[in-house]
Amino acid sequence: MNTTIPLRERIIFALDVPTADQAKDWVRVLGGTVGYFKVGLQLFLAEGFPLVDWIVDQGHKLMLDLKFHDIPQTVGLTMREVARHGVHLATVHAHTTAMLRAATAEAGDTGVLGVTVLTSVGEEEHRELGFPGSIEDMVRARAGYALAAGCAGVVASAREAALLRNAYGHDYLIVTPGIRPASHTHGKDDQRRVMTPAKAIAAGADHLVVGRPISQAEKPLEVAEAMLEEVDSTVKEPAKKRT
Ligand code: C5P
Repeated sequence: MNTTIPLRERIIFALDVPTADQAKDWVRVLGGTVGYFKVGLQLFLAEGFPLVDWIVDQGHKLMLDLKFHDIPQTVGLTMREVARHGVHLATVHAHTTAMLRAATAEAGDTGVLGVTVLTSVGEEEHRELGFPGSIEDMVRARAGYALAAGCAGVVASAREAALLRNAYGHDYLIVTPGIRPASHTHGKDDQRRVMTPAKAIAAGADHLVVGRPISQAEKPLEVAEAMLEEVDSTVKEPAKKRT
């Protein structure tokens, strides 16, 4: 387990909101506790790099989650633009080694994360995609492409973290969305391969991407603090049995 990551960077809060004003409100509310924010497609299309620059200027780390997937030349040139903005991590679908290599070649100080299989994909969706083999096989294979291409790490469900650690060791980041604390009472949503913060960290995840469990909570800051406490005690006592 990587014990060098500052606690405040363990949760990457997903800024899944439509405007810079709302995103900035979240950064102000959570920023004393959470030090890592994720800008995804909706917010980036609405607000672009000025918002990215603002978040980085606040001293926070930023994951740009645009999940690039295009010909290698286009992905490489796009990554060159991303790297000019102090982005810490940026995502590329881990589908082909050539595309991933093009991304890492142009990424500068930005770490490239290979997205293995979306956490919203369950067995039914996996069958629909028409790939042979299990989800786990595909996650393992795609993580292999990402690491061979020089990526800083991968995005996967926490359910696959242990198999990835077994297959490829510890020298890369595993970033896991689909985190649902035991107290999350908003019912079933589109995430399928989910896990609690403690179990995810114990399984080998480095960073937890969390959106709705915090944003939809009555007291978001308290939920974020509780999740980080859970992470902290797991990092300090990894062997303790987790519920
Ligand atoms: O609200 P929730 O906690 O499900 O948010 C998860 C975030 O992680 C969303 O912004 C989603 O786009 C992102 N994500 C994901 N699965 C991936 C990669 C990113 O859910 N494989």
